Amino acid sequence: MDPAAAYAAHVAHLTEHYGRAAAACGYDAIVLHAGAPALRDPFDDQHWALRPTPAFAHWIALDEPDAVIVVAPGRAPRLRRPRIDDYWHAPPPAPPAWLLAPFTVEDAAQAELTAPAPRTAVISSAPPAWPGLAGADVNPPALIAALDQVRTRKTDHERACLAEASRRAARGHRAAAEAFAAGETSELALHLRYLAASAQDELDTPYKGIVAIGPHAAVLHHTRYDVAPTTAAATSLLVDAGAMARGYGSDITRTYARGAGAAADLFRALIDRVDALQREVIRRIRPGLAYEALHDASHELLAAALVELGIGRGSAEALIARGVTRALYPHGLGHSLGIQVHDVGMRRTPPRADNPYLRNTSTIEVGQVFTIEPGCYVIDALLAPLRADDRAALLDWTAIDALRPFGGVRIEDDVCVVDSGVVDLTREALAA
Ligand code: GLY
Ligand code: MN
Ligand code: MN
Repeated sequence: MDPAAAYAAHVAHLTEHYGRAAAACGYDAIVLHAGAPALRDPFDDQHWALRPTPAFAHWIALDEPDAVIVVAPGRAPRLRRPRIDDYWHAPPPAPPAWLLAPFTVEDAAQAELTAPAPRTAVISSAPPAWPGLAGADVNPPALIAALDQVRTRKTDHERACLAEASRRAARGHRAAAEAFAAGETSELALHLRYLAASAQDELDTPYKGIVAIGPHAAVLHHTRYDVAPTTAAATSLLVDAGAMARGYGSDITRTYARGAGAAADLFRALIDRVDALQREVIRRIRPGLAYEALHDASHELLAAALVELGIGRGSAEALIARGVTRALYPHGLGHSLGIQVHDVGMRRTPPRADNPYLRNTSTIEVGQVFTIEPGCYVIDALLAPLRADDRAALLDWTAIDALRPFGGVRIEDDVCVVDSGVVDLTREALAA
């Protein structure tokens, strides 16, 4: 579909669904405020770059502080753009005409904005103190919950943005992998390669990239990069990094090994098995299935792989029942993806007690976009309790010791559920 037409259809879809949510929550109008740059520290005078309020970003990729969209059922959405009077900073890039086309655009002093209806809600991450909005409700939880549900079913426009975000990140992942294969093992150098190849300043990335060499790959959010290269002859690299496209982020992880020896070979075999099980989980995605059932399936597939590789001992069932897979793979299978990397609306009910970090407990539906990111790590703090009791017999500790210098494996793709099946945005982008 032509991008301008897809975007016009997206805004029409939001006009309908935000209008319905407003009516259901007792509002006649919603004012979506872009927000304002946040102070980095209360004792300093520097600000973070603007991260627009997510419900505003859902409508338009416009990095203009204090911009406002006014939504009222049955009326065309109005976009009020602020007059930017700032000679300290370069103005945000001018939006293309097609991005403004679905709106009635007003160029007006924001402080003069008055509530468009007696029952108005304002949604903002930095609510403005404009006198005309004094009587409005700010961030009412029931309305936010209803708008979050709209965010869980992506339009064609959103899927195109997410696909572009995957393509951009794929360029960074390829560059980091090539540099690592050629001998680069400084985490900082690999991080900078990633940023250069994906054409991003760090502040523009959807989340701080995880670039982990060797044992650091067992640190789930390793973002404190070593500058010096590793001295290990055989080692690993885990890169978990994304990119933005018109307000939408990708979230991709790949793991690599280099060097020779039995331990490196075992780690390579583990990477291959996690990659295969991740593809098998994606193959099982279908509307109507509980995402938590997929998470459980990923533990079953990991347990079988551990037994086959000789890392696990005994039955796959015992490795799950006794918590061994949960010590090796302690995070959730994935999460909703969109404007926010951990996007909203898909964890309306808590997961089972044995899946405490699962961020998606929804039933799979057409329109959803989520990650599938199983992993397997040597995290000694989680393995110590097993080693101290009869569960010690369920692992080959020589194999665990061999894997420890490589840290761990995670393979993460971004997938869309569509009428015809599942589109793996990440593998499409990496194969292109
Ligand atoms: N990059 C964070 C995550 O994978 O959820
Ligand atoms: Mn993720
Ligand atoms: Mn990730």
